[in-house]
Amino acid sequence: MSKKLWGGRFEKSTDETINEFQASIQFDQRLYREDIRGSIAHANMLAAQKIISEEDRQKIVEGLNEILEEIEAGKFDFSIDLEDIHMNIESRLTEKIGDSGRRLHSARSRNDQVALDMHLYMRRISVEVLNLLIDLQRALVETAEKNRDVIMPGYTHLQRAQPILFSHHLLAYFSMLKRDFDRMLGVFDRSDIMPLGAGALAGTTLPIDRKKVADELKFSEIYSNSLDAVSDRDYLLEFLSAASITMIHLSRLSEEIILWCSREFSFIELDDAHCTGSSMMPQKKNPDVPELVRGKSGRVIGHLMALLTTVKSLPLAYNKDLQEDKEGLFDAIDTLKFSLAVYEQIIRGMKIRKDNMRRAVDEDFSNATDLADYLVKKGIPFRDAHEISGKLVHECISRGIYLKDLSLEDFKKFSAAIDQDIFEAIDPVTCVESRNSLGGTSSIQVQIQIDNAKKIIESEKDSIAQKNF
Ligand code: ARG
Repeated sequence: MSKKLWGGRFEKSTDETINEFQASIQFDQRLYREDIRGSIAHANMLAAQKIISEEDRQKIVEGLNEILEEIEAGKFDFSIDLEDIHMNIESRLTEKIGDSGRRLHSARSRNDQVALDMHLYMRRISVEVLNLLIDLQRALVETAEKNRDVIMPGYTHLQRAQPILFSHHLLAYFSMLKRDFDRMLGVFDRSDIMPLGAGALAGTTLPIDRKKVADELKFSEIYSNSLDAVSDRDYLLEFLSAASITMIHLSRLSEEIILWCSREFSFIELDDAHCTGSSMMPQKKNPDVPELVRGKSGRVIGHLMALLTTVKSLPLAYNKDLQEDKEGLFDAIDTLKFSLAVYEQIIRGMKIRKDNMRRAVDEDFSNATDLADYLVKKGIPFRDAHEISGKLVHECISRGIYLKDLSLEDFKKFSAAIDQDIFEAIDPVTCVESRNSLGGTSSIQVQIQIDNAKKIIESEKDSIAQKNF
């Protein structure tokens, strides 16, 4: 077992099982780039403040860059005995450059070091997620635009309610993703605060310059309280919460896609490349991807609950409990990124069964509200109009026909106010086009949404470009 970097006050070496239990290197090795970048900035500051010599600084920076190459080339031996990424890298550095390496940790604790690594990492991740959100938004807008003339039944209570444009339905998801984007931008901002210099918890006696480190690492702010700097995990909770909401959005979309590609609906067909078959039933083409995304949403929500529970009642400042922030978070990040990426493909690859959607509208009573509105426009009070329309629907059901199949004489038996123009009024195209209120489903309103969505994507791209990190 290698000698611990903190071994001075200990008589015995760590028990082997405990050693493995408390290590985090198995999962925190993904922070290696951030750890090296943070250490280089720290060494530069230490030299500028004359806490270490220029010669030490040069050796440290060179050594760390070599270690970066070793790790990227897969030539680095991560050791469980060295607990975590910080000590694995520091100990390799010392192996390479001797005493200069042992000076790097001046004025620093692993508590503020791990906080720094995680802040750097979450800035990068939040931007990766922001870009993936834009890609999916773009797929939704483009699919909406291509299918502008497709009419489908809109649902409430999963019962056909009123005809809508299919693009209107897709754009609802665009709006959800826009809010997801804004939340993820907030995650970037809360990650963009520099914790280094907090030391273990109370600051340091050495004459450090936190501003210099923050500038080199392009942080917009510096934590103003050292206790908060080492124990804050809000930015991770915010990420997990934003990620959970996005996963919930994707799982709602998944549920719809799964329904839509069932034989009962047959509104869409997924690309063969995105489905799998059954090992037993030759006819099956299963929507595995939406099902998996729906299933994985539970995992991400679980990670949010886990971290909330870990942090709940935790006294200040650093406690080892906080090492538990990583595994669930990393899994949530991987799950979210993967889900967003596959969803873009699902949306772009699906075939729209326009005729089936239209048939579902025609063979239904989703134009009954339009009949009632027609009567209102003829001066009949809405409550009476509602009653008359209900009776007409009842009449059709008993005759096994739809409203459009009634003759004008049939209509007139229920209300003398009904004229020949009723047939146009209850035509699904009219139903859709006359819902021209702001944000409604008419093609004018949907075009406004499409135009806005394109502008939103441009402004989202701008806000990413402005993030300098
Ligand atoms: N591996 C630790 C973590 O992820 C680093 C900080 C450890 N600090 C300590 N005093 N043991 O939280």
